[in-house]
Amino acid sequence: MTGTDTHNLEQLAADARGRIAACADLPALEALKVELFGKKGVITALLKTLGGLAPDERRAAGARINAVRDELAAVLAERQATLEQAALDAQLAAGRIDVTQPGRGQQPGGLHPVSRARRRIEALFRNAGFSVEDGPEVEDDWHNFEALNIPADHPARAMHDTFYFPDGRLLRTHTSPVQVRAMLREKPPLRMIMPGRVYRCDSDVTHTPMFHQIEGLVVDEGVSLAHLRSVLHHFVERFFERKLGIRFRPSYFPFTEPSAEVDIECVFCSGQGCRVCKNTGWLEIAGCGMVHPNVLRNVNIDTERYTGYAFGMGIERLAMLRYGVNDIRLYFENDLRFLRQFG
Ligand code: PHE
Repeated sequence: MTGTDTHNLEQLAADARGRIAACADLPALEALKVELFGKKGVITALLKTLGGLAPDERRAAGARINAVRDELAAVLAERQATLEQAALDAQLAAGRIDVTQPGRGQQPGGLHPVSRARRRIEALFRNAGFSVEDGPEVEDDWHNFEALNIPADHPARAMHDTFYFPDGRLLRTHTSPVQVRAMLREKPPLRMIMPGRVYRCDSDVTHTPMFHQIEGLVVDEGVSLAHLRSVLHHFVERFFERKLGIRFRPSYFPFTEPSAEVDIECVFCSGQGCRVCKNTGWLEIAGCGMVHPNVLRNVNIDTERYTGYAFGMGIERLAMLRYGVNDIRLYFENDLRFLRQFG
């Protein structure tokens, strides 16, 4: 190796040191490493020139090139360690949690207003000695209609807008079939409420295809309409948390006799007459009556010994009146701005 070659080698080494120091990140350093030491790298090329030299020149030149290579490799390794540390530090800094930042506040979920109303109603009736029972939403014709004294050709079926399955089963149109199941299962005395979903092919401001009812059933010796009226009166006064007049309006249901519709004094105008009660001063909240003897016979209850009363109320309707909601569909649109008001 000549003097110029030695000079060139030092120049190359100085150059490489500068470039290594200037590498700002690991990919750039990796590229430089390949450029210097790779198969087609500068140092590798230099080592290949050794073959053309005389043996003693070759030894000296080889030693110099190796020394430069080792030195550059060390400088590069050091730079790599520095850059790796810097990368790690940056990553840690990015992930650091600033414990002095103010919190975002908690947004706990809440029960759906219909669930809240249902639970309140259940609690009030439990306090009055009622148990809470359940029944299937997919019913057969017998439980939903036939056993309730609504035979196939009965005009009352037209009121029910029933959803049928191809096999003749149906989505229950009211919670009354649960009465039937309860009376088949248990002997009197019975004192229970039966909340749940019911389905009717109907949709407008006051109707949704699915809604919730609470059925009430009491069967025992000596049960009368007076008991029914008193239980419902106590219930509405507790549910609305105020003194409220109620009235029974004669009505008709195939499964009760006599039957009545239950009105409460309008909770918006206290009976003065307003838009909500259509100036009548009264709001309808339930259907009820004495269990029809045909129904008791259908479930093998002795009609000489026992009488019973039953009632059915819409939970959405009660909740609308209590919370002042004017469109039942709001309950099922799941608009958080609506639902949050009940948190
Ligand atoms: N099942 C009736 C309805 O859905 C309500 C009702 C229940 C009436 C119990 C009387 C007795 O309209």
